[in-house]
Amino acid sequence: MSRNTDTTLPPLRRSLSARLLLFTILFVMLSEVLIYVPSIARFRQSFLLERANEAHLATLALDATPTGRLEPELEQQLLQQSGVLAVELWRPMAELMLGGMPRVDASYELDGAGAPELIRDAFLTMAAGGRRTISVITPARGEPGIKVEIFLREDNLFREMVDYSWRILNLSIVISLITAGLVYATLQWLMVRPMRRLTLNLVGYRKAPEDPARMLPPTRRGDEIGVLQRELARMQSELRQSLAQKTRLAALGTAVSKITHDLRGILNSADLIAERLQRVDDPGVKRVTPLLVGSLDRAVELCTQTLDLARGDQAVPQRRRFPLLELLQEVGASLEPCEKGDVRWALEVERGLEVEADYDRLYRVFMNLGRNAVRAMDNHGTVRIEADTEPGGRVRISFSDDGPGIPDAAREHLFTPFAGAASAGGTGLGLATARDLVRAHGGDLILERSGPDGTTFRIVLPAVFDGPAKAANARRPQAGAPFRL
Ligand SMILES: Nc1ncnc2c1ncn2[C@@H]1O[C@H](COP(=O)(O)OP(=O)(O)OP(=O)(O)O)[C@@H](O)[C@H]1O
Ligand SMILES: [Mg+2]
Repeated sequence: MSRNTDTTLPPLRRSLSARLLLFTILFVMLSEVLIYVPSIARFRQSFLLERANEAHLATLALDATPTGRLEPELEQQLLQQSGVLAVELWRPMAELMLGGMPRVDASYELDGAGAPELIRDAFLTMAAGGRRTISVITPARGEPGIKVEIFLREDNLFREMVDYSWRILNLSIVISLITAGLVYATLQWLMVRPMRRLTLNLVGYRKAPEDPARMLPPTRRGDEIGVLQRELARMQSELRQSLAQKTRLAALGTAVSKITHDLRGILNSADLIAERLQRVDDPGVKRVTPLLVGSLDRAVELCTQTLDLARGDQAVPQRRRFPLLELLQEVGASLEPCEKGDVRWALEVERGLEVEADYDRLYRVFMNLGRNAVRAMDNHGTVRIEADTEPGGRVRISFSDDGPGIPDAAREHLFTPFAGAASAGGTGLGLATARDLVRAHGGDLILERSGPDGTTFRIVLPAVFDGPAKAANARRPQAGAPFRL
């Protein structure tokens, strides 16, 4: 099937206006035909009734003569004036006949004839071309019980019907031209011109969507075209904004790649220095240096992944099976040196619970949630992490704090990059990144509850491949938790 992809405006002959004009003329002519059909039948009926009345009057002259006969010339004159060849008056006492009875081709009874018969007879008259002689019976006007039968040639009737048809045709042409002109002008003004303007604008917009001069002007029209124009204008402006944002993001992506590249260099140097620190004898330094080295390694790995992503290589999660508690303890320990206040990191993890995931990515998820919680509580309070296995084997982790809850400004776009930030210094990337990372594992991250007494996020991770991610009889909380940062 071939698709029409032409976007230039059509020539006048194929335009909407020309088609509308043509259809209007056609429809007016059609309605005139519908009017013409019954009216030509009525015209024939009136013609014949008039002839019958005049002929009836002529027969009255017969009644006035004592002999019941008229002079042939007078009889001829009366019949000619009535427009008939002969007339017969049917009445109970005696019949009256004026003129000699001719041979007839068809007989009609007007009384009681329905519209379909009258229409059919009118068309038969037209088809015969005025060459027939007919007889017509009708009740006498004003004299109940008496009928008049007239005999006449159809030539006069045919001529008058043709004249009448021409008059109707001419009138139809004039009416249809006037109506079509008026409809055309109205439609042109109401529809075609605005549609043409919209079409031209859309063609121009497609060529240069970023050009603000191509935007549709505002309209106050309240009809469908007004709605269409407003919707299109809104769509254009949204599209333009998203194009502008894409351009900005592309520029940002390039800048981030460059920064990440240099940052990786800096972090590599810091990593080497941290490794040297491990040789220092101070027990405090010895305790935190492995954490520092771990964090720096992860940061270098993250830079590498960011650069891969910028090159178009989407890194696949490196899944392995590990105890969830181990990861959560490491996140807590990494957060500890950053916090200035008194934060409890309370872990209630099902004994032996294991997950099958990318360790570093899950670490980033918990770091993001942990940092948010600690910041929301202003460094004072408890972060409670509960983890267990659902009946189907999925791992359910709930992450709660007793902070003041998520501000209204942040809620609506909580998981949309850059849009959810509501606290000073936040970029609004943390939760969006965390959700993406969880979803990359086939799981999900949702906000379960948030209010003045705290906030809970829930993470669900898919079941591990080879059976439940825990020892079968271990539903008690893990010994050793909670612990204090
Ligand atoms: N546990 C929480 N309690 C209260 N508010 C929270 C909590 N977690 C997130 N928020 C709110 O949600 C917003 C978005 O969080 P998100 O982690 O996406 O971005 P951010 O923390 O502002 O910036 P960053 O990109 O540095 O993480 C935060 O600015 C904060 O207002
Ligand atoms: Mg954050």
